[in-house]
Amino acid sequence: MRLAVPTETRAGEQRVAVVPEVAGRLAAAGVEVVVQAGAGDRAFFPDSAFEDKGARIVDGASVLTGAELVARVNAPTPDEVQRQEPGASLVSFLQPLGQLDVVEALVAGKATAFSLDLLPRISRAQSMDALSSQATVSGYLAALAAAERLPKFFPMFMTAAGTVPPGKVLVLGAGVAGLQAIATARRLGAMVRAYDVRAAAKEEVQSLGAQFVELELETQEGSGGYAREQSEEFLARQRELIGNEVAAADVVITTAAVPGRKAPLLVTTAMVEGMSEGSVVVDLAADGGGNVELTQAGQEIDHGGVRVYGMSNPPSAMPTHASFLYSRNVFNFLSLIVVDGELRPDFDDEVVAGTCVVRAGEVVHLPTLELLKEGT
Ligand SMILES: NC(=O)c1ccc[n+]([C@@H]2O[C@H](COP(=O)([O-])OP(=O)(O)OC[C@H]3O[C@@H](n4cnc5c(N)ncnc54)[C@H](O)[C@@H]3O)[C@@H](O)[C@H]2O)c1
Repeated sequence: MRLAVPTETRAGEQRVAVVPEVAGRLAAAGVEVVVQAGAGDRAFFPDSAFEDKGARIVDGASVLTGAELVARVNAPTPDEVQRQEPGASLVSFLQPLGQLDVVEALVAGKATAFSLDLLPRISRAQSMDALSSQATVSGYLAALAAAERLPKFFPMFMTAAGTVPPGKVLVLGAGVAGLQAIATARRLGAMVRAYDVRAAAKEEVQSLGAQFVELELETQEGSGGYAREQSEEFLARQRELIGNEVAAADVVITTAAVPGRKAPLLVTTAMVEGMSEGSVVVDLAADGGGNVELTQAGQEIDHGGVRVYGMSNPPSAMPTHASFLYSRNVFNFLSLIVVDGELRPDFDDEVVAGTCVVRAGEVVHLPTLELLKEGT
């Protein structure tokens, strides 16, 4: 079976779905790995490193030729799907609810598509959890971006010239990215406070040496360890209660998300205006609509002396390790669908079935199917 690894085409994307080390493991498992020339360049994996591991490098247009399986980071465009072999399988982030045109192209091509953002979050699937691995990168980078922009130190310093107090960091949303932002800011010596709508987050925040902000609000647990969608009334009350915390912070890092929904609004323009000049806001939810009213995805703006940075696709900014982790996730997932070098997905496996959006041209992910029906 031939596996194709095309160059990512999303603007600014630097990651690659398979790194040379994983290409070698796949080759050892009997898979023929074909990599588009230059696909790993921006993540610092040259073509020669893939060749050393037994992969074949081919020119752009022909990478999909004869490939039964395609591995990508981002969803392909409908055009790219059309260039796949009829009936080929795809493993990538797809976020199908927001990309119905891609789903339709997959259906037309009788494709089978696995979307890693739908992977069930059960213990057995942790090694395949690409959302978590990439969120780890995002959280780390958010803390570094804030530290770099703040005109103050994160750590406390006691020097001959005087004592510098530690930076005050507030993290809103303590999931995978938020916890990594907390851990990184703590390692740099900042005083960190954090809030999340899920009850389990409190202990996790505290275990990292940060303080959990208690708000007089009900928890908002959804299924699978996620938050549920919150009412506008809840969010308005949350913004009211968190206002003083935001005003007192040197840095606010927001990471709040609800699967399949627009990011909740946590920080209004008035709240940013309540922060001291020189403060920094980093919004990791920028690509999902933003947790901060002033956020512009991919932009950094100055609002009355407060910098608001809407980080877009942060994992791409650290492409070597983001690709390495993503590639391991892909490899571990492939171990469920490739047997003896051949594509043989076991759809009775809840991880395989739960991740599948389209199976041999039929949409099997119910929310996507419902959305498609609404549109017809
Ligand atoms: N395999 C597994 O078992 C597994 C893997 C990964 C994550 N998880 C669980 O899922 C949790 C969340 O995962 P994620 O980081 O991908 O979630 P996510 O990216 O969907 O959301 C980020 C965080 O935002 C929080 N949030 C939502 N609305 C909020 C609001 N109004 N205010 C403050 N916070 C808000 C969520 O509770 C979540 O912690 C993890 O912390 C973990 O407990 C389990």
